[in-house]
Amino acid sequence: MERVVSGIRPTGKLHIGNYFGAVANFLKMQHEYDCFFFIADIHSLTTHPTPADLHNNVKHVLAEYIATGLDIDKCTLFIQSDVPEISELYTYMNMNAYLGELERSASFKEKVRLNPDNVNAGLLTYPVLMAVDILVHRAHKVPVGKDQEQHIEMTRQFGKRFNRLYNVDFFPEPQAFSYSNALVKVPGLTGVGKMSKSGGEADAIFLADDESVNSKKIMRAKTDEGPKKQNQPKPVEVQNIFDLMNLVCTQDVIEKFDSDYNACNIRYGDLKKQLAQDMEVFLKPIRTNINDALKNDELLAKAAKIGAEKARASASQTLKDVREIIGFRKFY
Ligand code: TYM
Repeated sequence: MERVVSGIRPTGKLHIGNYFGAVANFLKMQHEYDCFFFIADIHSLTTHPTPADLHNNVKHVLAEYIATGLDIDKCTLFIQSDVPEISELYTYMNMNAYLGELERSASFKEKVRLNPDNVNAGLLTYPVLMAVDILVHRAHKVPVGKDQEQHIEMTRQFGKRFNRLYNVDFFPEPQAFSYSNALVKVPGLTGVGKMSKSGGEADAIFLADDESVNSKKIMRAKTDEGPKKQNQPKPVEVQNIFDLMNLVCTQDVIEKFDSDYNACNIRYGDLKKQLAQDMEVFLKPIRTNINDALKNDELLAKAAKIGAEKARASASQTLKDVREIIGFRKFY
């Protein structure tokens, strides 16, 4: 059976970009593939969280994974730092990754631009660690949002380079995956780019937030002063609202507002109110599940323990083979 790997950095609460870009695919894939879904806590160290924040963030994502419907009997759900084999393979793969290519990575350049005072080596070699997450389970498919596409391309490069260097056919070439035609990019509410935590509080709708918080953000989302001519293309910020509607509203509702827009009689207040209502219908059961899971320490402990065991079984087999391929042979 084909293997699948994907992860999310624990930086707080999950937003609907994480959900529709990644988790929605996980939920379906767990029934069709041998899946490894994890919490990328080592990755999150690039921004130096306090120990308490790190732990709480990991706990939150674990609860959110379970609350959205990941089933620990169907997939392997684990925490990255529970699998030391990942750090070992990271050391080996770093010997095979070059400064130039790492510096050219779009996400590295973006992080340097946003945080020029924290350009640490972990940030530079982030794509190597991410490649290792995938290669350590010798995965074929990686369900991610559009923003991760380049990282998956780099993963293929690193895997192929290893295969070439040692003249083996060991790592498969993983492909980014989505059940939709293209990889998903959920727009933010502030009108620029994808939804992200770094876009500020107002940019993202979080799965765990209350209805009032989410509705307020949606009602404040950026629009323009309204269409002046019939049947014109929508400006980005208005198209963003329609893109968000596509995630949670029914087709007839979207068509109604679309034809109102084309006829120049759209009321953005009504549009956003509809989006807020349908978003709440979608989020309410998930939020209830998150709150239940967060209170259930026994469930979280059981999930993390079982996941660590299953992930380590897979990763340690890969490392055994990798050590042999590299030439680390025992004298004793
Ligand atoms: P992260 O934690 O930023 O995001 C987790 C997942 O959510 C997707 N995503 C989005 N999709 C669509 N629209 C958006 N606005 C949006 N925002 C986030 C991301 O594409 C991602 O799939 N480096 C990764 C974590 C990672 C990983 C891995 C992923 C570490 N190792 C191995 C896959 C395989 C990251 O920072 O994602």
